[in-house]
Amino acid sequence: MASRRDFLTFSAATVLAGRIALPYGTSSGVDQRGDEPSKLAADPQRPRYHLMPLANWMNDPNGPIVWKGRYHMFYQYNPHGAFPESMHWGHAVSADLVHWKHLPIALAPTPGGPDKDGCWSGCTVVEGGIPAILYTGVFPQVQCLARSEDGMRTWQKLAGNPVIAAPPQGMQTTGFRDPCVWREEDEWFLAIGSGIEGQGGVVLLYRSRDLITWDYLHFLCKGRRDELLPGKDPVSTGEMWECPDFFPLSGKHALLVSTQGAVIYSVGAYENHYFRPEIQGKADLSDSYYAARSMPDGTGRRILWGWIREGRSEAAQRAAGWAGVMSLPRVVSLAADGRLRITPAPELETLRGKHHHFGGQQARGAFSIRGDSLEIQAEFELGASEVVGLTVRSSPGGEELTSITYNRTKAQFLVEREHSSLSPEADRGPQGGSFTLAEDETLKLRIFLDASVIEVFANDRACLTSRIYPSRPDSLGIGTLAEEGSTRLKALDVWEMRPISADKLTI
Ligand code: FRU
Repeated sequence: MASRRDFLTFSAATVLAGRIALPYGTSSGVDQRGDEPSKLAADPQRPRYHLMPLANWMNDPNGPIVWKGRYHMFYQYNPHGAFPESMHWGHAVSADLVHWKHLPIALAPTPGGPDKDGCWSGCTVVEGGIPAILYTGVFPQVQCLARSEDGMRTWQKLAGNPVIAAPPQGMQTTGFRDPCVWREEDEWFLAIGSGIEGQGGVVLLYRSRDLITWDYLHFLCKGRRDELLPGKDPVSTGEMWECPDFFPLSGKHALLVSTQGAVIYSVGAYENHYFRPEIQGKADLSDSYYAARSMPDGTGRRILWGWIREGRSEAAQRAAGWAGVMSLPRVVSLAADGRLRITPAPELETLRGKHHHFGGQQARGAFSIRGDSLEIQAEFELGASEVVGLTVRSSPGGEELTSITYNRTKAQFLVEREHSSLSPEADRGPQGGSFTLAEDETLKLRIFLDASVIEVFANDRACLTSRIYPSRPDSLGIGTLAEEGSTRLKALDVWEMRPISADKLTI
């Protein structure tokens, strides 16, 4: 996203320009503003089966929840354009986790209120049958409460906001935002993303009986600024942890934090209101995926969502009239080795249209199927090859092409974007990280291509999200690559994916 400085400096200017003087609760129509729908519909970079607003800027998923048999998704949204200012809560609802209907904006900044400069990220809970949102108002960063008495159509903010007016006294915090709330017997607990200057990220823990009066307890969990994840892919967990997401999982607990670089997860023990991480990893190998939040889905599953950032210049984002995409729903479970297993929700199979199957060929060359709205499944026997993978979005002469590769020697899994686009506006750096296959293991890829979005899942244990912006209309080819030639492609299955037409669904 745009730099954090953008967030911190927009406020005065936008307030003076009168750009956030939106009356609360009368927001219908506001979210329709932006570039004309025909321009956006014709934009070849705009995804067609991912959830996103009709126009303008979005970032973090906020408070996803199942309510009366429907999935509700909120998200950080700027109705004024494709840039990160004046955060509102956009709102969409789904009956099947895949198709969405847009609802009026749920939260808008209140002039003169504690959220006058933005309604930042948070969560939803249900108290005595009444849905409630806890979110961060800015500036300064404080925690606020809103409730809905009409089944999540409109939201009324507590007159006494903020409910938490400042970080614990004397603490030199690097931030204080993005509440995550859960219930234990007759008490509410609230985790806040924060960090201690010069030390590292922390999650602060609070307790309440009524969602209004909160007592600070202690750190739920604490990192170190220079902490490195074990393995060959070091990532500092930083000085600020955003968007904590804390939940029980198969007898353990999991904590996700967004470290202003990656989404790091820990699995561990939660005892006496302290969380002790035992194992850590990355929820996604790429920095295109951020601010992940999960929800229980009412059937025992935990569904994870994330914000897929743009990978092109701010000027290109503004010109497009939209920026930011919600990831596809991912199911989180505990793998046998204690790590998180994150896989695409089976519901996505309902989007599959025409099917193409290729079997038993040498894993080299191009396939007859072309497209930019596809699900691709491929399984490779590695043989003697050092590098194995697929190319997507390639032009007939190879001027544009994106490679999705596993490098056995480097134990790396990458999306390589050097030749993805001829446009100077597009990012070209590789994205990915450590990934190792066992000696006799096949490489199993599941790839979701949706215009400028790529979501890849490898062997049910690595997720890799990327953005590419091919400029040529004929950059639609798919091929395989194998350096040594002895790799065998066991099977390649491709489905043409149906668009979700989010604006049209009626519930
Ligand atoms: C994460 C984040 C949150 C904040 C929100 C503002 O991307 O920076 O910490 O609440 O975005 O939109």
